[in-house]
Amino acid sequence: MKEKIKKLLSEVENFKAGSKEELEDFRIEMLGSKGKIKDLFSDFRTVPNENKKEVGQLINTLKVKAQDKFDAFKESLAGNDTSVKDDLDLSRTGTPVKLGSRHPISIVRTEIIDIFSRIGFTVSEGPEIEDDWHNFSALNFPLEHPARDMQDTFFVESDGEEEIALRTHTSSVQVRMMENTKPPIRTLSPGRVYRNEAISARAHCFFHQVEGLYIAENVSFADLKQTLMYFAKEMFGEETKIRLRPSYFPFTEPSAEMDVSCSVCNSKGCNVCKYTGYLEIMGCGMVDPNVLENCGIDSKKYSGFAFGMGVERIAMLKYKVNDLRLYSEGDVRFLEQFKSAF
Ligand code: DAH
Repeated sequence: MKEKIKKLLSEVENFKAGSKEELEDFRIEMLGSKGKIKDLFSDFRTVPNENKKEVGQLINTLKVKAQDKFDAFKESLAGNDTSVKDDLDLSRTGTPVKLGSRHPISIVRTEIIDIFSRIGFTVSEGPEIEDDWHNFSALNFPLEHPARDMQDTFFVESDGEEEIALRTHTSSVQVRMMENTKPPIRTLSPGRVYRNEAISARAHCFFHQVEGLYIAENVSFADLKQTLMYFAKEMFGEETKIRLRPSYFPFTEPSAEMDVSCSVCNSKGCNVCKYTGYLEIMGCGMVDPNVLENCGIDSKKYSGFAFGMGVERIAMLKYKVNDLRLYSEGDVRFLEQFKSAF
């Protein structure tokens, strides 16, 4: 029996595991429930009493050594797990991360700002919840004047005297700029506006505008025209033509609406331009002297022009989108089509 144990002891001492499989075989053979050490314990019953102490100690030593050997190899094999190493290729390209895309309204707004910033316009912003003064009165809309009905307004409940509303246009920011800045003023005010309109393919209860304002000495209608022509060519292409039609806005005199030649049919007439060859994109005019005075600017010394355009409208022309609702529905299939340089 002692011989058998000593043989096993040397077997354990000489054992080397080259792989996890070899180590597992060793465990089953030595330490397993049907293993050699278990057999020794069964045989132990037949050992004469006077030898029991010595043989018992030997079997224990064998058991401890076998267990130690197993533990040591287990640890070292886990440390140099070659199967994982084979898979690790640091030169492989990573898993692609799916990037989102910019919203078309955001792309077009940024492009408008970029075009005007090249001729010295800076960006200014104002609140979306606006008082009557900034949205209407200062802009020459007298109380009860029918011109207020040009824009169906969402009013907000207020405790004060003055009416509060969601701004119906970004022209309110003009007023804030003129009140707070000394001319010359050259500013662009992008932002969201609200109107109480039924939602359809062509109208929405909120949309986006960019307002422009230039106030200095000796600003003329020719400056307005030249500025807008520059914008139209930059936005829609060098061959674009513009057309100014007389119009009416309470805050500009004279007022005009600007059309650009239809880029879809090259002005030949198509269903986008309703066979007119032109598309309306903004309102504009010379700032009414009353508005300058309302905002504390000397109308004898200074003059200026203003313009306001709808961002959705320009995006529709640029991307040939025919339903305004697509811009606010958040449908990823629509949104991910717009790739931009901005
Ligand atoms: N505020 C006008 C609107 O929302 C657009 C507009 C027209 C703005 C003429 C202007 C302007 O600055 O001069 O319909």
